[in-house]
Amino acid sequence: MEDNRLKKIEENALREIKTAKTGEELEALRIKYMGRKGLFTEFLRSMKDVPQKEKAVTGAKANQLKTKLTELLESKFKTLGKKGGAVTSSSIDVTMPGAKGMRLGHKHPITKTIEKINEIFLGLGFRIVEGPEIETEYYNFEALNIPLEHPSRDVFDTFYIEGSTLLRSQTSTVQIRIMEKEEPPLQVLAPGRVYRPDAVDASHSFMFHQVEGFMVDKNIRFSDLKGTLSLFARQMFGEEAKVRFRPHFFPFTEPSAEVDVSCIMCSGKGCRVCSYKGWLEILGAGMINPKVFEAIGYNPEKWTGYAFGMGVERIAMLKYGINDIRLFFENDVRFLEQF
Ligand code: PHE
Repeated sequence: MEDNRLKKIEENALREIKTAKTGEELEALRIKYMGRKGLFTEFLRSMKDVPQKEKAVTGAKANQLKTKLTELLESKFKTLGKKGGAVTSSSIDVTMPGAKGMRLGHKHPITKTIEKINEIFLGLGFRIVEGPEIETEYYNFEALNIPLEHPSRDVFDTFYIEGSTLLRSQTSTVQIRIMEKEEPPLQVLAPGRVYRPDAVDASHSFMFHQVEGFMVDKNIRFSDLKGTLSLFARQMFGEEAKVRFRPHFFPFTEPSAEVDVSCIMCSGKGCRVCSYKGWLEILGAGMINPKVFEAIGYNPEKWTGYAFGMGVERIAMLKYGINDIRLFFENDVRFLEQF
């Protein structure tokens, strides 16, 4: 008897819900059957009068029907929308903010620094090239006048891949790659990554970036190098920036120098950043060693040139006041967002 009543409710409800055409019709049917005074709700309420032995069976059937009706209503609501029929533009509030705002990406501080350096040297007539990061010992050492037993090889020594293939430890490799293919005059800038087996700390990383620059022509003098790098320092760090050349040794340049820029934090007065020296080292440079010219087949009597190699992280740290090189590579957006 109760079974029959339940069957009737099921038949009617299913048929009516299936044929409902608008969200409003559907809502009316939900109330008709499942609402507080709905037919199905009333039925459940009347279950208390069902004889004990029928209760279990009827109860189970009623539960099944409840799930069936709820699911059917839900899926129909999805297609018809809650109100006003099928989903229309009025049922989508286009003024509501999206679930997740789009985050705009931007350039990494190292990329920005390289681009700034490129821009300055492009303005001086340099062209920009890139060389391979996987190199041979020949380009990384021998051609740069660093023979196997030379002690200066130690500081440049690097990660070997196999045999004499290695990750380059300096962008000076690009000098050789260009000079062996082309004839002077040359004015080339070569940014890129380099690798050294350095222990990582606040100022060292096993991978970092350099920008190599070199010029080969007749009658290039040390003063050309000085003028070029002074101008670079002023454009990079501001008009007051000064450069200082300290004698140094590189096998592929002669004479060689390390170049400092006046501390941009204290304008050369002395502070913690520059260890109270007033100066900060930013690059190595010198006149290209005639031995390098000879090795690649240039006549050292005819051609002269200068070369320099700067550390990009160093320059970026100075420019932006960053005190730990590791910050560049940790990919922490809280750091990267600031540039
Ligand atoms: N390659 C040198 C270094 O990595 C820098 C350098 C480049 C020095 C060009 C002189 C000329 O330290």
